[in-house]
Amino acid sequence: MHKLNPILLKAVRWTGWPLLPLVLAFLATGYAISGRYGLGHLLDQQAALTLHKLLHAPLLLLLLVHSIPAIYLALQRWNRTRKRPAVRTHGHPPG
Ligand code: HEM
Repeated sequence: MHKLNPILLKAVRWTGWPLLPLVLAFLATGYAISGRYGLGHLLDQQAALTLHKLLHAPLLLLLLVHSIPAIYLALQRWNRTRKRPAVRTHGHPPG
């Protein structure tokens, strides 16, 4: 296993949780701008737009720090399992 892998996995797990409320807030402020689903009553259009614009940078940053290491680790796992020789079960199903 690569030395960096535990750090990359930590990055995936730490960024996954703040991403959840951030994505919801991004959607909510987006819908508040257009007044859809009654979210226009939650906050006025100008405040929604200001918040929505502010959320772009942290959302993109967290999404990159979450998905790039996640994809990298998944590809590593994928290559490892593909290289592994088939299990010999002598005619019996594995397990
Ligand atoms: C904004 C959208 C996303 C949100 C809200 C989100 C949220 C989360 C959360 C909460 C976790 C659990 C973290 C933990 O175990 O503590 C997680 C794990 C994970 N996410 Fe995401 N995620 C998003 C996008 C993505 C994308 C685009 C990818 C890339 C393909 C991805 C790949 C993964 C993987 C592979 C794990 C499992 C990590 C492990 O091995 O434990 N996620 N995500």
